[in-house]
Amino acid sequence: MSDFPAIPEGWAYLDTAATAQKPRAVIDAIARGYGETYATVHRGVYQRSADMTLAFEAARRRTAAFINARSAEEIVFLRGATEAINLVAQSWGGTFLKAGDRILLSMLEHHSNIVPWQMAADRVGAVIDVAPLTADGRIDLDAVEAMLTERHKIVALAHVSNVLGSVLDARRAVDLAHRVGANILLDGCQSVPRMPVDVQALGCDFYVFSAHKLYGPTGIGVLWGRGDLLDAMPPMHGGGAMIDKVSFEGTTYAPPPARFEAGTPHVVGVLGLHAAIDYVDGIGLDAIHAHETALVRETREALQTLNSLRLFGPEDSAGIVSFAIEGVHPHDVGTILDESRVAIRAGHHCAQPLMSHLGVDATARASFGVYNGRQDVEAFVRGIERVTRIFG
Ligand SMILES: Cc1ncc(COP(=O)(O)O)c(C=O)c1O
Repeated sequence: MSDFPAIPEGWAYLDTAATAQKPRAVIDAIARGYGETYATVHRGVYQRSADMTLAFEAARRRTAAFINARSAEEIVFLRGATEAINLVAQSWGGTFLKAGDRILLSMLEHHSNIVPWQMAADRVGAVIDVAPLTADGRIDLDAVEAMLTERHKIVALAHVSNVLGSVLDARRAVDLAHRVGANILLDGCQSVPRMPVDVQALGCDFYVFSAHKLYGPTGIGVLWGRGDLLDAMPPMHGGGAMIDKVSFEGTTYAPPPARFEAGTPHVVGVLGLHAAIDYVDGIGLDAIHAHETALVRETREALQTLNSLRLFGPEDSAGIVSFAIEGVHPHDVGTILDESRVAIRAGHHCAQPLMSHLGVDATARASFGVYNGRQDVEAFVRGIERVTRIFG
């Protein structure tokens, strides 16, 4: 707990799926980045800028090693997962999607993994198919297998659902996509902070995540793409740093990742991401996964005893528990819990199609991080009991 200065004693922060609190190591790295070593990267001829460039590129190598990318050149620093998916949808989609091609998504996707594909599909006349879920809230891969055809050019799925916590059998999803010749993008926003991720072992083509859910700063995220795919993709933004040569007769572009990083990057954000990766690796992703799984199990067991409560998602959900209490709006649940110093999220969680599928407008969601413990589960369950008392 003491690693996290913004979590006061007695406050149960259960909204890590929205954004994680920051460990002191990350805050210190950001403070050092602005307060001691600050300069821009890739441009300065003076020592400070050269040193910052080294630190910036070291963070890229660290990020590559963290997810076992083949090389640091496969790591593109962007504003977040949202921008990363938009880049793939616009740049890869604009190049490789044609009229009549199909895109396969699932019913549980975050809007960030729906809307960019709708925009890309509209532009070229491609069609989106939506994979259904199993009764317990996983992406139904048997259905995916039956749906996929050679017209499918891309499959884009959440590795872990931000609402249900369900974990995709990513290896199988990759095999199914590749069997029909489609590429596959995995949205790793909720998996990267909670389980080891090895993009080569997964065999996927694109993987995206946001630093702020991984205990790092906001405003920085990662697109990992297979080198040959990134090489074949045009830039999304034009500007400084992404060029090879500029003239009014015509401009040539830098190779990836610079091609996709137009403008002055979020230099200090990248240093913060490096510190965040060191922090979670120091604990170990296996240990984090086991810790959060145990907290989810305790939470689900306690909630199952309340008969007015509906639990969503599978038993073995990763770090995330969504629920609804009969006759109580999730926002009221959240407000009453807040009075008990328990912070949860209530709403559609940027997953409106999933809400429709579940037959609700919103859910309440508790999500865990490295700083949570049994005391937080207990405070949460006491808070829920209070909600049920208040609403009779
Ligand atoms: C599964 C999933 N995908 C995508 C996103 C979008 O991430 P960001 O807003 O950091 O770009 C989120 C964030 O809530 C998420 O949980």
